[in-house]
Order: sequence, then C-alpha cells, then structure tokens
Amino acid sequence: MAFATRQFVRAAASDAATAAAKKLLIKHVTIIGGGLMGAGIAQVAAASGHTVVLVDQSDEILKKSTKGIEESLKRVTKKKFADQPEAGAEFVKKTLKNLTTSTDAASVVHSTDLVIEAIVENLEVKNKLFKTLDKFAPEHTIFASNTSSLQITKMANATTRQDRFGGLHFFNPVPMMKLVEVIKTPMTSQKTFESLMDFSKAVGKSPVSCKDTPGFIVNRLLVPYMMEAVRLFERGDASKEDIDVAMKLGAGYPMGPFELLDYVGLDTSKYIIDGWHSLEPNNPLFAPSPLLNKLVEEKKLVSAPRNHSEEMIDHIWKTNASNCMVAVE
Ligand code: NAI
Repeated sequence: MAFATRQFVRAAASDAATAAAKKLLIKHVTIIGGGLMGAGIAQVAAASGHTVVLVDQSDEILKKSTKGIEESLKRVTKKKFADQPEAGAEFVKKTLKNLTTSTDAASVVHSTDLVIEAIVENLEVKNKLFKTLDKFAPEHTIFASNTSSLQITKMANATTRQDRFGGLHFFNPVPMMKLVEVIKTPMTSQKTFESLMDFSKAVGKSPVSCKDTPGFIVNRLLVPYMMEAVRLFERGDASKEDIDVAMKLGAGYPMGPFELLDYVGLDTSKYIIDGWHSLEPNNPLFAPSPLLNKLVEEKKLVSAPRNHSEEMIDHIWKTNASNCMVAVE
C-alpha cells in the first residue's frame, strides 16, 4: 500500500514537473469585451509588458475604453510616480503602445497566446463567440472566460480545446483588486492551469485556484451573505442602515452588505442568484428573494440612493493603493 502510494505520488510529481516544463509563456493577449472588466484586464496586461489587442463591437466603444484606460493609468502614475512626472508619462506612453484595438476578433486571434473573454454574461452569446474563435486561433492558444456566474465547462464544451480552456475571474476595479480566481474544469490540463496561474502573477495579481463550482470562492460566499441580509431586512428584523453599520463595526467588513449589493447592482445580483437557483433549486442559500425580484422589476438597481461607484472606488483605492502599485509595475 505504502509502495503504491509512493509510486502514485512520484507519478503525480513527475506529471506536474512535465507540465511545468512545457507550460506556455503568455506574451500576446486578446481581450474580447472592452467594458468595465475587459478594459481593466487590458490595462493591467499592457502595463505589465504584454502585447494586448482589445476587441469590442464598435470603434466608438473602443475609443471610450481606451480613454478610460488612459485616465486610469494617469491616476495610477500620479501616485506611483509622484516625484517623477516624466517617468510617469513614459510609463503611460509605454503601456498604451502595448495596446491596440479591433472590432474583428476572428482576424486578430491568429497569433495570440491567450484569449480572455469579458463580454455580456450570457452563455449562448459566449458559446457562439468561443465556437467561432476556436476555428481561427492557433492550436496552442488558451481560452479563458472572466464570467462571474456561468459554468466554464459549458463554454469549454463549445470548443474543441477543452484542455486549453479555463476561467480567469478578475475583480472590479481590476487595476486595484489583487485577486484572480483561476478556474480549472475537469478537462483543463495542468499545463493550461499553470500557464494561467503564471499569467495572473505576471499581471501583478495574487491568483487562487478553484474548481468550476457556482460562484467559485468569493461570490459563493458573498452572494448568499448579501441575500441573507436582504431576507433579514425583508422580515423586518433590522433596517438596511443598521445591517450595514453592524457588519462594518461588528465584523470589521469594509462595507455593509447593502452597500456591496448596490455596488454589484440589484439586477446583477438577481441574475446570479436566479442562475444558481436553477442549477440547485433545493439549495436554500440560492433561494430567490421576492423583495429583490420586485425592486428589479421596478427597475430599481440600487437599494438606496448613493453615489456608490465613486464612493466605493475611492474607498477601494484607499484600501488597495499599495497593492495597486504592484499591479502596474
Ligand atoms: P460590460 O457590459 O461593462 O462590458 C461588456 C462589453 O462586451 C461591452 O462593451 C459590449 O459591447 C461587449 N460585447 C458584448 N458582446 C460582444 C461580442 N460578441 N464581441 C465583442 N464584444 C462584445 O460588462 P462587464 O461588467 O465588463 O462584464 C463582463 C464579464 O465579466 C461578464 O461575464 C461578467 O459576469 C464578468 N465580471 C463582471 C464583474 C463586474 O463587477 N462587473 C466582475 C467579475 C466578472
């Protein structure tokens, strides 16, 4: 028994060593979707020396994305190069030089090492995109999705490269948040997984690994927590304001569950919980909330009027400022 175990451990170690030896050094990245997440990923990838092509549906959107990236870079350099404005300007220039844009994904993936998809959260649309790109991308190219709530396995199955497919789940705002969840499906090869881990580190992030399970790590814990806060309020047990204060002062959380819910958006939260509920209808953690459903139906996307984005960005900026510096080095 001990001999068999030793043999197994030796074989596994040798598999990992072979994969590590062969892993892909990612230099050229194609990012599909120039919205909130795609633009952020493009920024950190370009800032860390990768050649990046950002793809979206129109030049107008891409112009907006590039402008947003430039402004974000200037904010970062203002702090990073506070005493060296020339070095800061050079850093912005160098980063932007690494970045080009396109409205035609199929024509730009021919020499890419990694495709990161950050388009609309809709499985059918994502699958259609991956199926097309699978025909045009070289064999070695790894595909990754930034999805928050959809199954990576289902997207991998839309392609013929299931072993070269994984999840790269970045967090908003990307230039400031240090975490990336690297998602491994049962078909993701060790070589692909390690290449994605290395890429995450190369863009200045701290990757963690997780299997392809609803919500991965962070959202699996956060979404049910926010939903329980809604239920607490829905039952009339406490006010939204008191729930937020309680979690900040009593649990030391940087923001309360309703502030977090508003930052994510009520519609996005409902969409996520509905998706998980359909996968596991008997899981009480995934039960929909009548109040949340009603608010979204009334097109109310936040629980309280607040300038949440600027307020939150400022807050995250302050708490992550030092991490952010690493992210763009
Ligand atoms: P967004 O709506 O800001 O951006 C999506 C972009 O994709 C838009 O610019 C749209 O024009 C473009 N697009 C849509 N279909 C396309 C196609 N077929 N080809 C090329 N471009 C296309 O969305 P956001 O927030 O950036 O989310 C993108 C993905 O990232 C989603 O899967 C979302 O679940 C995930 N995500 C979002 C987070 C967030 O906080 N917003 C956090 C982590 C992941």
